[in-house]
Amino acid sequence: MKRKHLLGLQELSKEEINTILDIARPMRDIIMRDIKKVPTLRGKTVATLFYEPSTRTRSSFELAAKFLSADTLSINVGSSSVQKGESLIDTIRTLEAMGVEIIAVRHQQSGVPKFISLNTKMSVINAGDGFHEHPTQALLDLFTIKQKLDKIEGLKVAIIGDIYHSRVARSNIWGLIKLGAEVTVCGPPSLIPVEIEKFGVKVEINLQRTLEWADVVNVLRIQRERQDAGYLTTLDEYRDWYGLTQEKLEKLKGKKLLILHPGPMNRGVEIDDYVADGPNAVVNEQVTNGVAVRMAVLYLLAGGNESGNVD
Ligand code: CP
Repeated sequence: MKRKHLLGLQELSKEEINTILDIARPMRDIIMRDIKKVPTLRGKTVATLFYEPSTRTRSSFELAAKFLSADTLSINVGSSSVQKGESLIDTIRTLEAMGVEIIAVRHQQSGVPKFISLNTKMSVINAGDGFHEHPTQALLDLFTIKQKLDKIEGLKVAIIGDIYHSRVARSNIWGLIKLGAEVTVCGPPSLIPVEIEKFGVKVEINLQRTLEWADVVNVLRIQRERQDAGYLTTLDEYRDWYGLTQEKLEKLKGKKLLILHPGPMNRGVEIDDYVADGPNAVVNEQVTNGVAVRMAVLYLLAGGNESGNVD
């Protein structure tokens, strides 16, 4: 993969996505060892710059960089000079002047990682921008599906919940369609974007029908702040219609269904404990795979070859 930046899955080819997934496999082997360290990125500096909260993405970029022996820097925007009014571009120039070579950026506005990429020498990774894309989340979801079911092509994958506000949904749709999956989005009509079918997906508003159809479901977080904006009535009603509950799974009569959730989960809203902690859910594997996928992305953006031989 000869790219300087990773801004979204929309711009990646099927081959590029497969290269990242292939290289994530030996990376996962590394993080399963007692000594999780290879010298691949020794001498490189990787920074994370997050303007929104994060547990998984930020920590896993940092761990991924450390496991590859890079030096790491994590900017806490809440206690940085951003609070004194420093502009985005001045923050970027400051990090660049310190020798940072790769930066993972999360921002509430769509397009910010692309804007940075046009104004810096650093490699930029989109760690989630507005409603636009969250490419490494989708890559780790694809990796987890492939790990569990040995393929993506031909699978029926449902994405459930707040599609409208979800960058995870958009990146997953791009990746799944490119790799040959059939995709259905399912949620309340107020949270399904108009003309989403143009992405190549089907729309379904009935959850039980969706569960009966799917091999894999990816359950999105209900962003509680959307309720105030009038997109939802009550969270209880949402749970009744779209929450993954014991009762809804039991109606499937033992059918195999792989259940993903990008986290953080709202237990008792979009997913119940019975489902989240049950044998079909792979939430913790997704987190582990997130480190491996981010190692693969860092390795490739730093110029690593496609053999993935990092030892
Ligand atoms: N899935 C995800 O992006 O989680 P964080 O917000 O914790 O990074």
